Amino acid sequence: MRPVDGQLPLIWGVFMQRKSVTSSLAPVLEVRDLSKSYGALKAVESASFTLRAGQITALVGDNGAGKSTVVKMMAGALMPDAGEILVDGVLVELSDPISARRLGIETVYQDLAVLPNLDVVTNLYIGREIYRGGAGRFLRIVNRRAMMEAARVALADLDIKISSLRQSVGSLSGGQRQSVAIGRALVFASKVLIMDEPTAALGVAESAAVLRLVNYARDRGLAVLIISHILPHVIDLADQVVVMRHGRVVGVLGREETTQKRLVELIVGPESTSIHDR
Ligand SMILES: Nc1ncnc2c1ncn2[C@@H]1O[C@H](COP(=O)(O)OP(=O)(O)OP(=O)(O)O)[C@@H](O)[C@H]1O
Ligand SMILES: [Mg+2]
Repeated sequence: MRPVDGQLPLIWGVFMQRKSVTSSLAPVLEVRDLSKSYGALKAVESASFTLRAGQITALVGDNGAGKSTVVKMMAGALMPDAGEILVDGVLVELSDPISARRLGIETVYQDLAVLPNLDVVTNLYIGREIYRGGAGRFLRIVNRRAMMEAARVALADLDIKISSLRQSVGSLSGGQRQSVAIGRALVFASKVLIMDEPTAALGVAESAAVLRLVNYARDRGLAVLIISHILPHVIDLADQVVVMRHGRVVGVLGREETTQKRLVELIVGPESTSIHDR
C-alpha cells in the first residue's frame, strides 16, 4: 500500500508510532497542582502525579472524587483553573483535544464518544480520514478502501474481532463497542493512553478482552492511565495507583504497597473507616 499524500495509512502510522514510543519508565506526562472548580464546588484541588512509559497507572476514588475531571484536563477537553501539565518534561497548554492528540495523548472517555449510527471504519477514522491522492486530496474525497484495509490490519493486530467493518457501531455489543473506542485510541496514541472506566458496563469475558488491550498498550511502551472502580482489576494491572478523595490526591501507591485494604482506607477516608471500626 502506498502512503497517501500527506496522510499515512493507518498501518504505516502504527509502524511509525511504534518506533517513536519513548524508552521504558521515562516520565511522559506529569500534572502539577492541577485544580478545577465548578462554581463553588472544588472538583479537583491541587492534583499532582506522573505517568511513565511502559507503566499502567490506575486512578481510583469514590463517585464524584474528581477522576473524570482530571482526565478531561489531561486530554485537553477542559481547561484547568490552575496548575501545570508537562509532556516529556516540557510545559504544554492543552487548549483543546486536538492539541493533546498531536502530542500523542489519546483518551477513551467515560461516555465513550463513538457515533452509533456510523460504521466501524468511519468511527475509527473520524477526524483523521485518509484522502485519495492528487486532486482527491484537495476535493477531500475519502479513500474508503485504504481506510478499510488499514482498519482490518489494525484490528487484527489488536486481536479485536468484529465480523464486518461496515456494521454500525450501535449494533455491536458493549464490549465490541468499547474495543472499537480503545482500538481507535491505541492506534493513534504514541505516548499516552487514557481510559475512563473502560470495563464499567462489561461482562467478565468482555472485561478480560479490554484488559488485554490495556496490557498490550503497556507492553507497547505507552504510559497508560486507567480509571476503575473494580479494585481486583486495579491490583492486578497497575504499576502505580493514584487515589483521589474529595478532589484531592490522597495517595500514590507502588505495586508492592497496593492492597485492597489500603485502597479502601484511602478511598473512603479516615472518617468513614473509623465509623466502620466502631
Ligand atoms: N460539568 C460539570 N458541572 C458542574 N459540576 C460538575 C461537572 N462535572 C463534574 N462536576 C462535579 O465535579 C465533581 C467531580 O466529578 P467527576 O466527574 O470528576 O467525578 P468522578 O471521580 O469521575 O466520579 P465517577 O466515579 O462517578 O465517574 C462531582 O461533584 C461532580 O458533580
Ligand atoms: Mg468519572
